[in-house]
Amino acid sequence: MRKFIAVCASASVLLAAVYAVAQTKTPHPPLGKRATDEQIRFWDIDVRPDGQGLPEGQGSVAEGEVIYEQQCAVCHGTFGDSEEYVQLAGGIGTLASSAPIRTVGSKLDTPTTLYDYINRAMPFPNAKSLTPSEVYALSAYILNLNDILPADAVLDKDSLPKVQMPNRDGYTTDHGFMRIDGKPDVNNTACMKNCEKSVEITSQLPAGFTEQFYGDISDNFRDYRPERVAARMVAHAATSQSVQWDGAKAIETHLCTVCHASDQKVIGPSYKDVAKRYSADPERVAKLRNSIKNGASGTWGIIPMPAQTNLADDEIERLVTWILEQK
Ligand code: HEC
Ligand code: HEC
Repeated sequence: MRKFIAVCASASVLLAAVYAVAQTKTPHPPLGKRATDEQIRFWDIDVRPDGQGLPEGQGSVAEGEVIYEQQCAVCHGTFGDSEEYVQLAGGIGTLASSAPIRTVGSKLDTPTTLYDYINRAMPFPNAKSLTPSEVYALSAYILNLNDILPADAVLDKDSLPKVQMPNRDGYTTDHGFMRIDGKPDVNNTACMKNCEKSVEITSQLPAGFTEQFYGDISDNFRDYRPERVAARMVAHAATSQSVQWDGAKAIETHLCTVCHASDQKVIGPSYKDVAKRYSADPERVAKLRNSIKNGASGTWGIIPMPAQTNLADDEIERLVTWILEQK
């Protein structure tokens, strides 16, 4: 035993020595590099309940209404009342009832969560495209739709955290989620007889949905071995030089493929059907350009298409040409 300890000890002394040598050469062996202040600022967007993290800027209910109509109403309804995606207004006082309606107005305990959520995740799928003042304005408008703020309210980093949410005292930690002996969230009784024998799956996402949405998952694994990184950079440079604009790639990059396929209906119409429908229409380029830029509704069914606000005009032009060529 004593001998074993001695061997271990000398091995670790040796390792420490090797490490010390390596350290004097490069302070951090090839394990990434220190993030710059600017990079950290880019990621550091969280807003805390006391308002810490809120940026400069301000927005009114009236300004919020204009942006909301353009960028949010298609999915959340003109008055935040659409259940098609997520309802944003109403339901206050219903949480403890047998038919709770959970909206940001009825469920949130702090208004800063509303700001943070819109800022980081909306408008789907163009997250992080809004300026701080636009997010203040949208927060004000949504709180107004919930009758929490008056129509002349203006929000900024000082006034937002002071908004009193109806459910501010409604949060508890007194349940099973937080404590092993807490009260469970569910009240069902376990089935003991005549139970379902097997579960049948009755619907599923279209094939390839996950891959289209998240791309190649292996790209998310960071590879820090320098020779591999160098090889990848060379390969990347080679492909990005030789690649021509490719419609099939572009609709993937812009996430159109979440809702569209070339030859089958997904959430939106197939591009073949779009090309067919407009083939004899002399206004087709202008119409489709407008639908992509500003959103579309009512032509293909009840589901609207959100405005694709992060596309440059010449990219929209290329997409329209490509879509109209689908046969
Ligand atoms: C293309 C449809 C779409 C558009 C456009 C859209 N949203 Fe959403 N929104 C969603 C979906 C879907 C969710 C739910 C996401 C989830 O639960 O993962 C959501 C969630 C939210 C929530 C959180 C709701 C909750 O109960 O927690 C807020 C707030 C919100 N959106 C605000 C906005 C605002 C403001 C805009 C406009 C700038 C906007 N959304 C545009 C689809 C959309
Ligand atoms: C969130 C789902 C969604 C996304 C993302 C989406 N679309 Fe759509 N798209 C739809 C729906 C739904 C319709 C049908 C709207 C209607 O009935 O007018 C549609 C319709 C269209 C039309 C036909 C418009 C018309 O006036 O007839 C074109 C062209 C189109 N989309 C192109 C695109 C392109 C290009 C992208 C990506 C930059 C894209 N879409 C992203 C859901 C989506």
